[in-house]
Amino acid sequence: MARKKIIAGNWKMNMTPSEAVALVNELKPLVANDEVDVVFCVPAIDIIPAMEAAEGTNIQIGAENMYYEEKGAYTGEISPNMLTDAGVKYVIIGHSERREYFAETDETVNKKVLKAFEHGITPIICCGESLTQREQGITIDWIRQQIKIAFLNVTADQAKTAVIAYEPIWAIGTGKVATTEQAEEVCAAIRACIGEIYDQATAEAIRIQYGGSVSAASAPELFAQANIDGGLVGGASLKPDFGKIVNYKQA
Ligand code: PGA
Repeated sequence: MARKKIIAGNWKMNMTPSEAVALVNELKPLVANDEVDVVFCVPAIDIIPAMEAAEGTNIQIGAENMYYEEKGAYTGEISPNMLTDAGVKYVIIGHSERREYFAETDETVNKKVLKAFEHGITPIICCGESLTQREQGITIDWIRQQIKIAFLNVTADQAKTAVIAYEPIWAIGTGKVATTEQAEEVCAAIRACIGEIYDQATAEAIRIQYGGSVSAASAPELFAQANIDGGLVGGASLKPDFGKIVNYKQA
């Protein structure tokens, strides 16, 4: 069965609550396409107003991060119950910016992934190599390690519903999009790795996005690749361009 594409925006630390409402209202007619899953991952304080603004549309509101404990003395963190109570179904886990600036590791990513599944939230699990790693020729080894640790103790049934975002760090926010061949090669390797950990059926079910400077111009070719099931989009998700990315087939 063909995998449904999933195109997610990652707003990062942009948009106040009132700006979020305005942006959802601006984008909702542009992203009205039921053929793909459309998710806006927004700052925690924007979740509820964005959810209200998106009511009755095909837009799903996701979070950009979540903690792996249930509750308690973790000042500043967001719990899984806070997200589910607000109606959140997706959460980005282990974005490279979280790893770089907030000391997240493959191990904390794994804890968050397990916790998200426990609460019925679909994790969008990020992986990706640095420019140095690419130049050293260790991209695939590196990504396989990230994937194997992220999926420790995750069941096949859970893994089938997961989303993986392959985001080469050197392509994020740089305008330097990976070539279609580079993106497809790594996404295919990720799928093969999932096949090794689980089985063929899980590998075929899991959705793998490409992320890193995705634009209206690059989306059609990227999303046409056999192993690329959509995108995680930063900068372009804050603009009307996101509508073109969601409707990449009409380009
Ligand atoms: P970008 O960000 O599209 O601005 O490169 C992608 C991401 O970090 O998810």
